[in-house]
Amino acid sequence: MKKMAVVLAAGLGKRMKSSLYKVLHPVCGKPMVSHVLDTVKKAGCERIVVVVGHGAEAVKAHLGNAAEFALQAEQLGTGHAVLQAKELLASEDGVTLVICGDTPLITPETAKAMIERHCRDRAAATVLTARMENPRGYGRIVRGPDGSVLRIVEEKDCSPQEAEIREVNTGTYCFDNRLLFEALEQVTNHNAQGEYYLTDVIGIFAAKSERISAFMLEDPAEAVGVNDRVALAEAERLMRKRINERHMLNGVTLIDPDSTYIEADVIIGQDTVIYPNTYLRGRTEIGPGCVIGPSADLTDTVVGRGTVLRYAVTDQAEIGEEVTVGPYAYLRPGTRLSRHVKVGHFVELKNAQIGENSKVPHLSYIGDAVVGVDVNIGCGAITANYDGYNKSVTEIGDGAFIGTNVNLIAPVKVGSGAYVVAGSTITQDVGENDLAIARTRQINKPGYAVKIRARAKAKSVRNNVSDSSEK
Ligand code: UD1
Ligand code: CA
Repeated sequence: MKKMAVVLAAGLGKRMKSSLYKVLHPVCGKPMVSHVLDTVKKAGCERIVVVVGHGAEAVKAHLGNAAEFALQAEQLGTGHAVLQAKELLASEDGVTLVICGDTPLITPETAKAMIERHCRDRAAATVLTARMENPRGYGRIVRGPDGSVLRIVEEKDCSPQEAEIREVNTGTYCFDNRLLFEALEQVTNHNAQGEYYLTDVIGIFAAKSERISAFMLEDPAEAVGVNDRVALAEAERLMRKRINERHMLNGVTLIDPDSTYIEADVIIGQDTVIYPNTYLRGRTEIGPGCVIGPSADLTDTVVGRGTVLRYAVTDQAEIGEEVTVGPYAYLRPGTRLSRHVKVGHFVELKNAQIGENSKVPHLSYIGDAVVGVDVNIGCGAITANYDGYNKSVTEIGDGAFIGTNVNLIAPVKVGSGAYVVAGSTITQDVGENDLAIARTRQINKPGYAVKIRARAKAKSVRNNVSDSSEK
């Protein structure tokens, strides 16, 4: 049977009090609506229609060609929202999954199982429900004496007895596609909110004795609908827990899952150990056998097998195998470290390629540089890559030795095997195997320290005498 999905994402999200459109608020680094799209795609939906309204352009720009779009120009309710997909979907035969863009925790497994149940039961509609200790804000499921679903009542329309019901509507449903669009035409807005409720379709089906199924979530946490930032934080916490558990079950050690923040699309290899207070963001990909953290913050960074990275911030960096980074290193975009590189403490790299076995162990800034293999960069050595207007490149050949506190004024090249003496400020290229020294020659004056001390002391006595005479 053909599977389709309608994702509702046109509401304003007033309760978020935000200039960012509600369904674009990220949960674990990914906009809610993208989580929902992943879910319906993994559940096997061939056509996906996202109903957009408020912030339509932003949502469309974000999703690109991952979905088809239907515009709901005026937000007249969830039933009216689904109706906007009529032109695109009404002629299809099959099952349509309707899901809200603000319920990011529903899993693909749940959606899949629900669709299967719906087909097996040959139902006209299947409602995904959850039993909640505190059902506040959700529509209630009203069942008949035989347990069959009769209708869904929105909280604002509930009688006192109905308000007591603990089984709620998660806002996710399967429908027979043709029956859905037929019934939507009959939905009215005669209710407390003056809206066209999608939930009324259930009552319409029941009145026609169509078969209605309910599929209850085992874990009500999946149902969290994000209407405000309190719920957003709750969704974040639940999603984080889910992501962390997935990595642990895949063979990653998290020393303290509660202080480990891994975004949805991050990949981590087996036997990697993540220490506390670590953030792994975006498209970060970590190989097996690494040690990451404590206090590491990686964004869009690739890390090879067996690398150790402590107290470091990285952004769009590529780090090879068996590299050590930190403590206190900052790897900015375009950093590429080959195998066995060592980047030590208080080192900043930007757009810098460092060859195998090379070391930048302490207190350096290396920017816009190409560094060969087996290079040693001494403590405090830096590249001066920017003249206030232009960025220039520094090249350092294989096996070169850069002494401590050297300034390399780019553009400049240091040949392979060259030796740059500590404290030099290098403005001209250094040839292969050359030694470069660029600092003023030292002069020693024998015994002069005694003389200069005596002179300084005499001056201080004179000053003190004149000070006291003034008083
Ligand atoms: C809805 C359900 C409620 C359920 C709850 C689960 C209805 C009438 N009520 O209530 O039974 O318990 O979800 O989270 O369906 N939207 C549009 N256009 C509109 C109105 C809403 O696209 O005109 C979208 C919103 O962007 C949102 C979704 O539909 O993604 C749900 O709307 P919302 O206002 O959050 O409904 P709830 O009050 O939460
Ligand atoms: Ca909602």
